Amino acid sequence: MGYENIIFAVENSIATITFNRPKALNALNHELIKEFSEAIGKISENEAIRVLVLTGSGEKSFVAGADITELATFNAFQAKKLSEMGHNTINKLQELPIPVIAAVNGFALGGGSEIALACDFIYASDKAKFGLPEITLGLIPGYGGTQRLPRLIGKNRAKELIFLGKMISASEAYEIGMVNKVVPSESLMEEVLKTAGMIASKGKVSIRAAKQAINSGMNSDLATGLKIEIDAFSLCFAGEDAREGTNAFLEKRKPEFKGALNK
Ligand code: CAA
Repeated sequence: MGYENIIFAVENSIATITFNRPKALNALNHELIKEFSEAIGKISENEAIRVLVLTGSGEKSFVAGADITELATFNAFQAKKLSEMGHNTINKLQELPIPVIAAVNGFALGGGSEIALACDFIYASDKAKFGLPEITLGLIPGYGGTQRLPRLIGKNRAKELIFLGKMISASEAYEIGMVNKVVPSESLMEEVLKTAGMIASKGKVSIRAAKQAINSGMNSDLATGLKIEIDAFSLCFAGEDAREGTNAFLEKRKPEFKGALNK
């Protein structure tokens, strides 16, 4: 499928999806969500891809939210369909077995913040701005923001941001734990790709096991989460990387992870 609203590229086992409607600040229209969902499906089928990076076209915006020109004409039934489509896509993103990094280069508003919140972590340019401004449109977040934001930054801080529809800077987002790192805008992609490359060089099975244990555990009570960790830890021994990593340590050399399963 050729894409018109996103750019999908794969280089050195790192996939990048760039939201690409710069004239509308990369707002999420129906077509973009469809293409995004399709690309996520392609990534989940491609075992060679080790990390996914998301970013926005142009200097100004990551994603400025759902396309308001579409929302303006909706009835409740259409709104439900749109929200379900967004949720399905963003859930698929969150459930990818590989790490996903959001490289937030500018505005991440509404659905844009909600996509970033479903990534494994966020690096932001010093020009980035975050917010869930839906309340200013007479709406509420509809792509997971009322659920993922409080889980990440705490219930009361999330309520303040959502009730006010307030926009915050990258450094404020860093202070409240929404963003892992703030970097000068010109070096954002370089920094993100460096981190992605370091993750891609680790054991494939162990990275997947770590992500799965953390995500599944965070949705459970501690006792269940700890049991999930036992299973995920033992799963690492199904791959050759565990043998390679431990032997390399004992032999005082660098490991060469190949990601293969034990024969
Ligand atoms: N939908 C549709 N078009 C959008 C858009 C959006 N979310 N955000 C920006 N645009 C368009 C503008 O209409 C404008 O188009 P024209 O040039 O044709 O007029 C173009 O992008 C540039 O935007 P501005 O001129 O407004 O740029 P600015 O620098 O003055 O302001 C901004 C930037 C603060 C991001 C402002 O555009 C803005 O507030 N955008 C809307 C943000 C928003 O409310 N997002 C939430 C959407 S609802 C949602 O996301 C629901 C959900 O959870 C599913």
